[in-house]
Amino acid sequence: MLGRTDLEASTCWDFPSQSDGHLKAGDATFNGVTPARCAENLVRRYARPGDLVVDPMAGSGTIGHVARSLGRRAIPFGLTPKRSDILRADARAWPWPIPDGKAALAVIDSPYSDNLAYGGDSRCLGRISCRDSRFYDEMRRVAAEAFRVLRSGGVLGWIISDEYRRGFYTAVGFRLLNVLAELFEPLDTVVLVRHHDRSASPMWEHRARRFNFYLRGFKYLFILQKPVGTSGG
Ligand SMILES: C[S@@+](CC[C@H](N)C(=O)[O-])C[C@H]1O[C@@H](n2cnc3c(N)ncnc32)[C@H](O)[C@@H]1O
Repeated sequence: MLGRTDLEASTCWDFPSQSDGHLKAGDATFNGVTPARCAENLVRRYARPGDLVVDPMAGSGTIGHVARSLGRRAIPFGLTPKRSDILRADARAWPWPIPDGKAALAVIDSPYSDNLAYGGDSRCLGRISCRDSRFYDEMRRVAAEAFRVLRSGGVLGWIISDEYRRGFYTAVGFRLLNVLAELFEPLDTVVLVRHHDRSASPMWEHRARRFNFYLRGFKYLFILQKPVGTSGG
């Protein structure tokens, strides 16, 4: 058990840097890159050595890299692969060679609105505003694919933020959680502290106080389980 003592024990995860503990996992300059320790905590808790971990929105590849370095099998894919070991595919139609009902863990760090364009692919879900109900319809399709490839009792970790934009707050996290709970059983919700965002500057802090709004200080990490005893999607 000694090797497990550095696992997070509470529902607030705050890591000093994106690459903490995994210097080569992901690209710290990639917009919305996942903290490597977040991936590590999910992999170590919910996938055993040799188990399959999938990441359908792989971006710069943090989750797959961490999973492999911990001895798990990993299939990362996405629309804008940044590494040669990431497949090019749409998260709404997961590609061969991912088998049905076999993965132990799916980790999804998705866009949370249309604030960031990830490349020129028109299928990018980062082109749909979180104020548009289509956003949640498309995320439901991604969740259905995760459900299909996860084994009974397999775990889904989904990272997402709320949005405050031009005077309008959207509770993206809670809306998404309602969608995910149509298929999965919620196990827990973690607050993932954000650092180094473009809005983490004295100018934005001044604006937040002056115009009476809040900067996004955290993302949600929803942890859910495919109900034990269920098979395909
Ligand atoms: C927050 S980033 C993921 C960051 C990644 N985990 C990392 O550590 O670099 C969101 C990713 O979702 C991808 N994405 C958006 N729409 C997609 C789709 N329909 N299918 C697959 N990937 C998609 C974007 O290309 C982007 O790489």
